[in-house]
Amino acid sequence: MARPVVLVVDDDPGVRESFRLILEDHYEVVDVPDGPGALDVVRASAVDLVLLDIRLPGIDEGIEVILVTAVKTVRTAVAAMKLGAFDYLTKPFEEDELLTLSRRALERRALEREVAFLRSELARAHDLDEIVGRHPAIDKLHGLIAQVARTSTTVLITGESGTGKELVARAIHHQGPRRDGPFVAVNPAAIAETLIESELFGHEKGAFTGAHQRKLGKFELAQGGTLFLDEIGTLRSELQVKLLRVLQEREVERVGGTRPVKIDVRFIAATNTNLKEAVGRGAFREDLYYRLNVVPVVVPPLRERIQDVPLLVDHFIRRDNRRFHKRIDGPSPEALAALQAYRWPGNVRELENVVERCVVLADGPVIQLNDLPLDVSLPQQATKVRAAEALPLNEATDQFERQIVLRVLERVGWNLTEAGRILEVHRNSLRVKLARWGVRAPGSEH
Ligand SMILES: Nc1ncnc2c1ncn2[C@@H]1O[C@H](COP(=O)(O)OP(=O)(O)OP(=O)(O)O)[C@@H](O)[C@H]1O
Ligand SMILES: [Mg+2]
Repeated sequence: MARPVVLVVDDDPGVRESFRLILEDHYEVVDVPDGPGALDVVRASAVDLVLLDIRLPGIDEGIEVILVTAVKTVRTAVAAMKLGAFDYLTKPFEEDELLTLSRRALERRALEREVAFLRSELARAHDLDEIVGRHPAIDKLHGLIAQVARTSTTVLITGESGTGKELVARAIHHQGPRRDGPFVAVNPAAIAETLIESELFGHEKGAFTGAHQRKLGKFELAQGGTLFLDEIGTLRSELQVKLLRVLQEREVERVGGTRPVKIDVRFIAATNTNLKEAVGRGAFREDLYYRLNVVPVVVPPLRERIQDVPLLVDHFIRRDNRRFHKRIDGPSPEALAALQAYRWPGNVRELENVVERCVVLADGPVIQLNDLPLDVSLPQQATKVRAAEALPLNEATDQFERQIVLRVLERVGWNLTEAGRILEVHRNSLRVKLARWGVRAPGSEH
């Protein structure tokens, strides 16, 4: 492990030298005579502890500071506390005193890091498959998940993209007796055609050129656990036959293998297309469909449970606050109304992304209507204009102009020159308008 780095800041070369002599057996020691030099070092490298004889604003909170002073007074003690220093040391000091203090400061830092890490891990584990929502359909879903989790039957989850199909699959796995086994997800649509068979079934060494080693397929990797077959509707017909055989025989044969291998796996498949209809069109095997569809689970689109939007928004804000070290309270009533009026074609995933973007970009504690992407906020802004029938013409024009300009800007990725070309105005006048509306380009410096 790398040695902790201690930065010594003192204008007296003699003092710096004695610090170095005491500390360098245990730590990497860097010394500088003044504040600006110290800040350069802190910015450029990872410093663990600073021994400081002067006040230095701008030193990161994650670095421990020990204040070194010439006189021991109550004032220095108070000043050290105010600075957030770990402790202070008065000159002249004993060698042992310095070493003990340094060690304690670094230990505290290591502990704090560990606590922060464990907290985030705990939060993550807790979030893991929490399915948020109180809509009756979600209540029913919870009940169904609990029921099927106890069994090993095959489950087919149907739902539009972004509705939470994988979340449901994970919940089934984690609530059931296989929870300590692996949860293996595979999306055949995301794997190159030439690789897919060996990905699923594995291969023996030398099965084909490039097969230098035996490789286990997803079926075998899921032994004792759950295999999640995502976007099952995209499976090529030849693989449909093979999958059917696996479901019937409960064994797989590696590519180039000579003996079948028994598998003990619970299957959960998901699709965002109507598989039954695909069967009708002859695009999906009927026998496979029935094998998979033992217990059907349908995840409704978000627009059919719009009452859950506030809960989901709250859930994602809390999570993103933690992730991005922000303190967003929630959406304004107007913003919430827009979020509930929107149709969410990308479902919960789209909502999740919208909230994340708002949390990252928001200035204040409240997410405003203007912070939302235009697709979400525009209809609501239009309603506002309509509601304010007595709106003076110039204000109405201004609002309308704003909608048009923002929509174009979003389309061209906030490239002002390009937007100016489309709207036939100079980019500088766009800049002036944006400033007047208090709109900042996403990602731009504050
Ligand atoms: N009810 C919910 N509560 C909390 N988070 C949810 C909920 N539904 C979905 N999510 C979150 O939304 C995102 C999309 O969910 P998931 O990946 O399970 O959807 P999917 O149906 O598999 O989507 P796709 O079809 O795009 O693969 C995930 O980050 C998931 O955690
Ligand atoms: Mg998915």
